[in-house]
Amino acid sequence: MLSKVKNPKLAKQGKLSYEWARSHMQILDNTINRLKKSQPFKGITLGFCLHITKETSVLLLGAKELGAKVTACSGNPLTTQDDIAAFLASQGIHTYAWVDQTAKEYDWCIEQVLKHKPIILTDDGADMNVKAHFDKNFKKLKILGATEETTAGVTRIKAIEKQGKLRYPVIVVNDAMTKQLFDNRYGTGQSTIDGFLRAMNLLFASKRVVVAGYGWVGKGVAARCKGMGSKVIVTEVDPVKALEAHMDAFEVIPMVQAAKIGDIFITCTGMRDIIRKEHLLSMKDGAVVGNVGHFDVEVDTKFLLNNSKSVREIRPNLDECILKNGKRIYLVSKGRVANLVAAEGHPPEVMAQSFSNQLLSILHILKNHKKMENKVMGVPKAIDRQVAFDALAAMDVKIDKLTKEQIDYKSSW
Ligand SMILES: NC(=O)c1ccc[n+]([C@@H]2O[C@H](COP(=O)([O-])OP(=O)(O)OC[C@H]3O[C@@H](n4cnc5c(N)ncnc54)[C@H](O)[C@@H]3O)[C@@H](O)[C@H]2O)c1
Repeated sequence: MLSKVKNPKLAKQGKLSYEWARSHMQILDNTINRLKKSQPFKGITLGFCLHITKETSVLLLGAKELGAKVTACSGNPLTTQDDIAAFLASQGIHTYAWVDQTAKEYDWCIEQVLKHKPIILTDDGADMNVKAHFDKNFKKLKILGATEETTAGVTRIKAIEKQGKLRYPVIVVNDAMTKQLFDNRYGTGQSTIDGFLRAMNLLFASKRVVVAGYGWVGKGVAARCKGMGSKVIVTEVDPVKALEAHMDAFEVIPMVQAAKIGDIFITCTGMRDIIRKEHLLSMKDGAVVGNVGHFDVEVDTKFLLNNSKSVREIRPNLDECILKNGKRIYLVSKGRVANLVAAEGHPPEVMAQSFSNQLLSILHILKNHKKMENKVMGVPKAIDRQVAFDALAAMDVKIDKLTKEQIDYKSSW
């Protein structure tokens, strides 16, 4: 099967969204146009497992414009924008994605991409890379290398490396400064507010918002909630991050305490079991709970859904769960990445930076794979810097250059 999407007729709407995104992704557009003449991906197949959003469509069509045969599925069963999937399929991208997939359907879509025999994989959360390593049907596939988009995927890919089982080099796009400082922080910060607002449409001002985790995502979410007038509480396990949150003027307390006083809870850790049974039972009546970490393991939704005397969808992406103790807990997007499920994910301007890193890292693997070891590695510094310069140029921001005397000063003892 060359593609499978929900409704091919949505392609027209998807095209409009693609055009809107591309016109706000100038860095990526410039990168594609700069490389187009040399057709660097001519004759190769690329496999993508990313959230199928309007921003992703710019990356995928860009890869096709550079000569690749492109195959794609979603990196999450709940986040596909069906109009975009339809548009991609209409443009000859082999697309296997629709929203609200079962686990079996999600798995099937990843397999369809791998059946096209891509030689470089671009993943978001490592599901495709895990399959390419451990599924008997794909573990012999010839793959030159891969790139990984998010923190949660990096943790998994490093675990494979630690076991000595990594069979090709993996570039961690997530760790590029021009990715995590902007995409994880500003992108997730803004789109989390968007997702929670669309789901609940309640006032942020005056509410106590509990942000679990003060990494790049947590920092962005905390800052944006503060900007909306909320009293922000941070929970952490890392002493340095906790200190940073404290110095940034947030209240830092353990989750057992925060659970009793919070109005809105947003998990941003990439770790499991952040909001557990004991926390849920001690929450105030009417508390809203959601997650923006990559996997739906941060909130114990199993306990919440199985131990409620009634569960009903009160608004799209908002379930009212009435616990046996009579308290109502509102669950956003079933505990899945709320900014992508209840909203549209990151805005195009930040994704332009992340995806420029992706495109240039794929090109780096293609050119250098023979010299690269089967290791997990960062985005080459030159690429990260190039993306920063491109981003500044796109925003018409000019900076100073070091003088010769300053360069000498820097290298003298
Ligand atoms: N929703 C999105 O669009 C989006 C975008 C980027 C990243 N992510 C995901 O968000 C998650 C966080 O990403 P990040 O880049 O901020 O990672 P990070 O590693 O920078 O930060 C995670 C933080 O969580 C803290 N933490 C871990 N266990 C904890 C616990 N039990 N209680 C409290 N804090 C705890 C860590 O100490 C760390 O400071 C990952 O799953 C990542 O894949 C989602």
